[in-house]
Parts: sequence; C-alpha cells; structure tokens
Amino acid sequence: MRYLLGIDLGTSGAKTALFDEAGDTVAACTQEYPLLQPKNGWAEQAPGDWWQAVVKGIREVLASGKANGQDIAGIGLSGQMHGLVMLDGKGRVIRPAILWCDGRTEKQCKMITQAVGAERLIQLTGNPALAGFTAGKILWVRENEPEHYARCRQVLLPKDYIRFCLTGKYATDVTDASGTNLMDVRRREWSGEVLRALDLDEALLPPIYESCQIAGCVTQEAAEVTGLIEGTPVVAGAGDNACAAVGTGVVTSERAFTTIGTSGVVYAHSRDFHVDAEGRIHTFCAPVPGEYAVMSCTLAAGLSLRWFKDTLCGEEAKDAARQKTNVYKILDQQAQAVPAGARELLFLPYLMGERSPLLNEKSRGVFFGLSAIHTKKDMLRSVMEGVVYSQRACFEIMVDMGVIPDKMIVCGGGGSSALWRQMLADNYGRPIWQVDGQEGPAKGAALLAGTGVQIYRSVPDACKQTVHDHLKAAPNISEGRKYEKYYMLYRSLYPALKSSFDSLAKLREHAAEKS
Ligand code: XUL
Repeated sequence: MRYLLGIDLGTSGAKTALFDEAGDTVAACTQEYPLLQPKNGWAEQAPGDWWQAVVKGIREVLASGKANGQDIAGIGLSGQMHGLVMLDGKGRVIRPAILWCDGRTEKQCKMITQAVGAERLIQLTGNPALAGFTAGKILWVRENEPEHYARCRQVLLPKDYIRFCLTGKYATDVTDASGTNLMDVRRREWSGEVLRALDLDEALLPPIYESCQIAGCVTQEAAEVTGLIEGTPVVAGAGDNACAAVGTGVVTSERAFTTIGTSGVVYAHSRDFHVDAEGRIHTFCAPVPGEYAVMSCTLAAGLSLRWFKDTLCGEEAKDAARQKTNVYKILDQQAQAVPAGARELLFLPYLMGERSPLLNEKSRGVFFGLSAIHTKKDMLRSVMEGVVYSQRACFEIMVDMGVIPDKMIVCGGGGSSALWRQMLADNYGRPIWQVDGQEGPAKGAALLAGTGVQIYRSVPDACKQTVHDHLKAAPNISEGRKYEKYYMLYRSLYPALKSSFDSLAKLREHAAEKS
C-alpha cells in the first residue's frame, strides 16, 4: 500500500496527516506554535517554530506505526497564504515572518497602487494592493529595516520555507504566488511590469510551479531529523484555501465551497480568468494547471461568534462543561429558537475591519435595531445571520462575474452547525453539501502529491476517486423570502455608515497618540 503525506501549515499550528490511496486518513496530529504580536495590529511567527512543529508532526505520524517512511509515495504542502519569510545568502532566516493577518502596510499599499495604477494592478495581479498580501510587507521591510532588506537574497511564502527545509529547494506554486500582488495571475508567472514599478529584483523570488508538479525531494539531512526517506518527492502544493478546494473536490466549475472558520471564505473554481474590476474579491490561479479560482475572505466569521461566546456566554460555557457538551451546540439551540430576522435586529460582522467585499480596515462591528425587547438570544441569532449575509454578499459578486457553481460545500468549524448550514442554504437559495473527513487542506495537499507521483491521473481525477459528499441542507423558500428583506437592509447599512467608520478611526488614532 502506498501512502501520501499532507502538511498544512496553519496560523495556530501545523497539521500533519497521512492518507491512503482512497483518501482516507490513516494518522494525523497537530502541533501548535505561538503567534507573536510585537505591536497592535502586527502578527509574526518564527519560521524555526514552524519547522520544529512539522518535524514533530512527521515523527508522530510515523510513530503511529500505520506506515513507514518508505511507504510514503509523496508529500504535499499547504499553508497560510501571503506571509513574508526572508532568507540571507546562506538560507538563514533574517527576521520573523510577517503574516497574512498583519496590518502594518497601509502606506506601502498606497504606494503600490500609485506605482502600478489601481486598474492595471487588478488587471495584472487579479487583486488590489492589500495589507495582508506579500508585496507591501517586502516594501515595509525595505523602508523600515534597511539592514534586513540589504541582507535578503530570497523571499519565500510560509509553506515554501518548509519545502526549503525538507528539500533544500527554493520554489513556490501558482496559487500561493497569486496572493503576493507580484504575479501576473493570468499568465502564471511573476509580473515583470509590477516588479519594475516597485523596483524589486525577480532574483529574490522562487520559481513558480503548478501545484501538482514535483518541486524537490527530501534531502538526507531532512530524512535524518524527520524519519522520512531521502529522495521522497515533494510537490509544489498550494495555499490553504486552494488545498481546501482540492480536499473538498472544488476543482471543476460546478463546485464551490464556503468556509466558516475564524475567517469566512467563499471559493469557486473557474476554468476561465474572471476579475472583479473593483477588486472586491480575489482572483487566484487554481491548483489545476491552467485554471483559476475566485475567492472572498471576510475577517470575522467564526471569530464573531467566538467573540460573542467569550464576551457574553459565561453561563452557557458552564452549562456545556456540566453537560459535557460543546458550548456551540447550546448556542445553536438557543439561536434556533429565534425566528429568521432576529426580531428585526441586524449585526455587521466587521470586528476586525473587513477585507471582502468592503476592502475597509476602518469598518467595525455594529448591532443595528437594538431595542429593549431584545434578549441575548436575539443578539446571538443576529450575529450568526450577519456572518451569513457577509458570505452571501461575496457570493453574489461571484455570480455577477459569471462564476455560477451548482454545488456549494460547507466546511470549517461553522460547518458543523446545523443552523448555520440551513441559513446558508436559505440565503444562497441553493442546497448545502458537506464532504466526509475533517482534514480539508492537508487532504488536498496529499491529493496534489498523489497526482504529482501519478497515483491519480489529474487533480479532478484524484478528487473523483477520494472525495465523497452528502446533502446537508435544502433551501427553504419561505425562510429565504424572509431573509431577503433583512439582507437588503443589511446591504444598505455599510454605505450609510462608511463616513462614520472614518470618524471613529480618527478618534481611535487620537486616543492612541495620547496614550
Ligand atoms: C486568504 C487568507 C487566509 C490565509 C490564512 O487570502 O488571507 O485564508 O490563507 O489561512
């Protein structure tokens, strides 16, 4: 029996999982590492911590005794996107990695937009200059830490640092390179035009591979520390959302997925290159050679519910501990008891500012319509509905762009809420499906490896053989009609509040200056 190893380098930890050829999980474990926040709004991690976590994970999976190193036919990498890793001429890490959720580059993003031109940047890279993306981070280091920039000889994305440790090779893949603001996404190569405009040397960037291409093999040194066999092929892999797409079979135009994790992602595969001229949602290369994906990312989906639970649901947490159940199950039951529309209460889930579709880091959360009749349960329901409305707004932009999938899969922690699944079905007006297994991105990475080593004929073939889905919620037309009215009101609130968010940001800046 041949096995495939998938490694998903997340923000809170690295998941290492071993799969058989049927795509079933044989062994899996997660190793956590710290998130460093040296200043408000900054987010960094030590690449050395990532590698230590991956080494531990591989050793643990092999120690399960389910497979030996020589049974592993290939390795695939998935990872948090956009992060900046800088290496010197000897491959040593120069400074901590600056992550996707770091917000320090507003000034650099303005500079990128000016240098390339707002429209041209979206045409070329499929995206506007975004604080989360890599280019702004490189410019930030050049401007603020010139001594680090001067020593830098290689820029890598997070999962590509793990590849470097495993194989000694510098490489990235088309999906992850798409999130740098430096790639000509349509042509699947670094954009000479953008690099010239930003005065960046292409020699700093690794070669780009398709996700299922072999990009290196495990070195003797890496084999010694991990227990893997020297020479095991490592494919290019993909960003975590693209790997989740493979893991959920979203590799053909009829399929899409919605993740309610900390953030909310709506991702649809597309054979052709579609761009939203306003850049409200991302266009990336897909992990299928020559094809594309559109994707939105809202910053506080599951995070909004977690915030509500942590701030207001101490009693429910105690009940859950007493009943030995999950607190989110209790919250689901409570919200279920409130009718659609949350008794005329709406919630805007912009607790972290918002990326898709607003592109406004100054926006903030709002309860709208709060009255003395409302209870905590109404607020809870409105939080869950607000998260769904924000995904719906992104999905509608995709549909307007002509990306119209038939099958919507739900994943992420929020996918285990029956209420959230039903709300998505009622709001999208489409059935909601779920796939077997919990390993999403790690499974996708393993399937890419299986394609690279020719266990499967193609990425869609790998998914056909190993991904099985089940209908979880059918749209309820009368509930859908009720939501429609509240959704229209939800959509009208942000434009009405936009200038108030600017004023609030000024107050925050003023308060920060004083303290
Ligand atoms: C995608 C994004 C996140 C990260 C972290 O654009 O910023 O989903 O990949 O997981």
